[in-house]
Amino acid sequence: MTTPKVLQVGPLTERFQHNLAERFDVTALWQQPDPKAFLQSHGADFELLATSARFGCSAEQLAALPNLKAICSFGVGYDSIAVDAARDRGIAISTTPDVLNDCVADLAMGLIIDTSRKLAASERFLRAGGWLKGNFPLARRVSGKRLGIVGLGRIGQVVVKRASGFDMDVRYHNRSPLKDSPYAYEASLVELARWADFLVLTCVGGAATHHIVNAQVLEALGPKGIVINVARGSVIDEQALVTALQNGTLGGAGLDVFEAEPKVPAALLEMDNVMLLPHVGSATEETRLQMEELVLANLQAFAERGELLTPL
Ligand code: 8YV
Repeated sequence: MTTPKVLQVGPLTERFQHNLAERFDVTALWQQPDPKAFLQSHGADFELLATSARFGCSAEQLAALPNLKAICSFGVGYDSIAVDAARDRGIAISTTPDVLNDCVADLAMGLIIDTSRKLAASERFLRAGGWLKGNFPLARRVSGKRLGIVGLGRIGQVVVKRASGFDMDVRYHNRSPLKDSPYAYEASLVELARWADFLVLTCVGGAATHHIVNAQVLEALGPKGIVINVARGSVIDEQALVTALQNGTLGGAGLDVFEAEPKVPAALLEMDNVMLLPHVGSATEETRLQMEELVLANLQAFAERGELLTPL
């Protein structure tokens, strides 16, 4: 039996590279002197593509892969993959759902706690010798607050489970209400923001949610409200966010994702009422290992039986 060929778009861990190369005949697209030219001349050789939420697969790349049958991606987000173009050609797509729910939800809770109780800001105060001169200003309570979830999907459900331990009242906004959800549905995102103390974004990225958290939503969340984003930077109008924080019309923000990663608006770096993280929602040893294993298992299942384990 010949070893199946895989084209890999961008690098993952050394461990993943090693395990992938043990089972497949791997070509590293990013290591080609001219990846575009390589695709034009060799694209037809590949039926399997390995990528990630970060590297994705563009419509242009897809067009240069006429025999592609499956895309196996590391990560749960698929906004960087030309999904419609792939579906039109019957190309199967897998992501790595569920294995990262706990860690992303844990991080969302961390951001909620930090932005309310000012963990990082008060630690910065202590390290700078501020405590020797006086007390740190009072923060705000977390327990018993109102949690508005935008996108009550797999990750959102786990955030809600965590929040129940903090006696929070939960409402959510989705495109349409979920059947059998015990939580109140709010059809208007502005109204959800007006009600909530914390607006937590766990929705998909891409065109459907681009800038849905705009100036009006941020204003409704208000000067004591806090927005938490563990979804995609594109969901928030970042310029409107900066303006609302600068004007004090929004209380704070906990952000793991940004519009132009790894670039973060300079104005945010100056603010003490925001926590800024470098897109680390799923970045634990345990979860990243499970994600790697799931990508490999999907590639293997498709190579052996033409089936994906976790199709989109
Ligand atoms: C990925 C993510 O780890 O799953 C996603 O969609 O954003 C992260 O968990 C990261 O983007 C890897 O490419």
